[in-house]
Amino acid sequence: MKIICVANQKGGVGKTTTAVNTASILNSMKKRTLLIDADQQANSTDTYRATYEGEVTLYDCWLAESDDREDINNCIQHTEIGDIVAGDPLLREAEHKIAKDPITGLMSFKNMLSKLDGYDYVIIDCPPAVGAILQSILVASDEVIIPVTADRYSLQGLSQIWETIQNIRNGMNANLKIAGFLLVRYNTRTNLNKDIYAALEQIAKNLETRIFKTYIRESTKARESLAARETLIEYAPSSTTAEDYVAFVRELIKNTK
Ligand SMILES: Nc1ncnc2c1ncn2[C@@H]1O[C@H](COP(=O)(O)OP(=O)(O)OP(=O)(O)O)[C@@H](O)[C@H]1O
Ligand SMILES: [Mg+2]
Repeated sequence: MKIICVANQKGGVGKTTTAVNTASILNSMKKRTLLIDADQQANSTDTYRATYEGEVTLYDCWLAESDDREDINNCIQHTEIGDIVAGDPLLREAEHKIAKDPITGLMSFKNMLSKLDGYDYVIIDCPPAVGAILQSILVASDEVIIPVTADRYSLQGLSQIWETIQNIRNGMNANLKIAGFLLVRYNTRTNLNKDIYAALEQIAKNLETRIFKTYIRESTKARESLAARETLIEYAPSSTTAEDYVAFVRELIKNTK
């Protein structure tokens, strides 16, 4: 079982779009895949046509008091798109709960995942912050995908996620690997700024990772599909962005074998 998270503390860079489409494409390739929505905004949950209302969620199997804590296998919702553990507004309590007992707290996500059985891939959609949720997920993950947009501000923010990853590598998860930077919302009309690409390549080299060969192009279909609560493959299978995500998933699994 490979545990892969999609992380960047910057908001709105395509984490959820990448997590949802990666998980659903893996499913369509007959890889048994679980998506975990670790964001209190619950955007992945919504797109996967799951819900936190009246259902047990990531909160219940991870952060609830021990008497009320559920087994993660009981918190999986099986939708037409695939299996998901839903996000929940209650995840806002994570910082406070984990801070009470940081070491056990940061291990608790990993302990929870150890009860899972029968999946080839677990894909985790992270919140836009470098707090206790992200740290707990990094402790439990084999690999991180970092989506980036090709602008200067996006590159400036990379040092922050890098420091967080380094801290986890130096402490609780020495085997954590950065699968790569995934260039998202790439606009073919405005040629990719060569300076920015060169800077990103340099950062990737310094961090001993790489930029995925596949870029994810920008398209209105990608935006519309989220609003329609459909994955791109369902909503617009022949759109450029859907094609790019399929190519990306092929590249990802080739490298993670
Ligand atoms: N390739 C793309 N083409 C066009 N729009 C895109 C593309 N990828 C993402 N978007 C749009 O950008 C917005 C932000 O994407 P998304 O929600 O995936 O980002 P996020 O990093 O998960 O955000 P947050 O930090 O709030 O969790 C959404 O409206 C989404 O539809
Ligand atoms: Mg998101």
